[in-house]
Amino acid sequence: MIRVAILGQGMVASHLAIGIERIKQGEIEPYGVPLARYKLPYRIEDIEIVVAYDVDSSKVDRSLYEVARKLVGETLPIPKTLKDVYVREGIHLGSLKGLPFKATGLEEKMSVREAISRLVDEWKELDIDVVVNVITTEYGRPFNTVEALEKAINEDNREVLTASHAYAYALAMYSKEHRSAGFVNAIPTPLANDEGVVELYRKTGSIVLGDDGATGATPLTADLLEHMAERNRYVKFIVQFNIGGNTDFLALAQPERNLMKEHTKSRIVEDILGYEAPHYIKPTGYLEPLGDKKFVAMHLEYITFNGLQDEVYVLARINDSPALAGKLVDLIRLAKIAVDRGLKGTVYEINAFYMKKPGPSNSKAISKIQAYNLLIKWLGQ
Ligand SMILES: NC(=O)c1ccc[n+]([C@@H]2O[C@H](COP(=O)([O-])OP(=O)(O)OC[C@H]3O[C@@H](n4cnc5c(N)ncnc54)[C@H](O)[C@@H]3O)[C@@H](O)[C@H]2O)c1
Repeated sequence: MIRVAILGQGMVASHLAIGIERIKQGEIEPYGVPLARYKLPYRIEDIEIVVAYDVDSSKVDRSLYEVARKLVGETLPIPKTLKDVYVREGIHLGSLKGLPFKATGLEEKMSVREAISRLVDEWKELDIDVVVNVITTEYGRPFNTVEALEKAINEDNREVLTASHAYAYALAMYSKEHRSAGFVNAIPTPLANDEGVVELYRKTGSIVLGDDGATGATPLTADLLEHMAERNRYVKFIVQFNIGGNTDFLALAQPERNLMKEHTKSRIVEDILGYEAPHYIKPTGYLEPLGDKKFVAMHLEYITFNGLQDEVYVLARINDSPALAGKLVDLIRLAKIAVDRGLKGTVYEINAFYMKKPGPSNSKAISKIQAYNLLIKWLGQ
């Protein structure tokens, strides 16, 4: 059994909870879960979501069933078992600022340090194995040292602390005081890329995986670039954009938040090609009627043999949230496997396949084809 706490009960988290229950009930095949074809120490059925945290006051104190029904009830059957799991109040630290939701947070009633302690106590009681971070994309920078992170918490410095850093710190304290656990960071806030956080996790015997789940167009772009690099085709430029109608895209319409995605996406070009081809790789817009099924366009030009020029165009409509949810089914199990193996800090072999910006910091982004082989080797399959 893997006991999971979810941070951010939005579209991705709802797809995750629904999908796991439907797999348990034998209603669906585990398509979209990369490692479903392999025998791992933990089965998908071993995953148990026991609690979720949110700061949208219309979700706090509701069951996962109620939240999921509101979000995707028109397109998916909502398993009744989700009536037993509840959303609790999390740490806000401004992550919903400027968005059309009424936000609430534990830190409104206490210091950030006290809010963190409260989470640690709750997780002890629930005996959590893995925490998954899928809160709204927020603006945040790395602290780089454990001291700088602890200073911000001790001084209650709400200007520099992100919600993700507070949650990640709570999991480290939980590991230190209770037992080793894993933190999966599927959003762009640098955690597995923050040397301070990774060092803290090394010290406390915990695992952080991240950052920013790789789904949709970015892995496809990475693999296309690998295809070009292996054939020594010279890429002249590449453009890739996404337009979506879910609340994540609404959040990304704010320039600061969009910048976070830009940071995690555009590093792949130079890392894979070995040179900096001009590129434009961004989530570019919000259009409500597209809903969760985003529109993706990609175009690249390259020079082939005899100096001639080829062009590739890709157009796609992709269900955004299930793409990440399927990967989280693996990441939860991999985080637990890493903890069981006694590993500490972060695990590049996992991050490289599942993340847009694989930690630790300064590690290279490789194509997903290569990363997949690395992962299978790490698993001993
Ligand atoms: N394919 C994908 O959908 C994909 C890929 C990579 C990364 N992500 C990341 O996953 C995250 C979630 O995406 P989504 O589509 O589910 O978004 P969403 O807006 O549907 O859900 C986010 C949820 O987090 C909650 N939240 C915000 N701040 C919080 C806090 N401080 N504590 C607890 N909860 C908080 C919101 O109220 C909301 O319920 C985003 O950050 C996105 O960048 C998504």
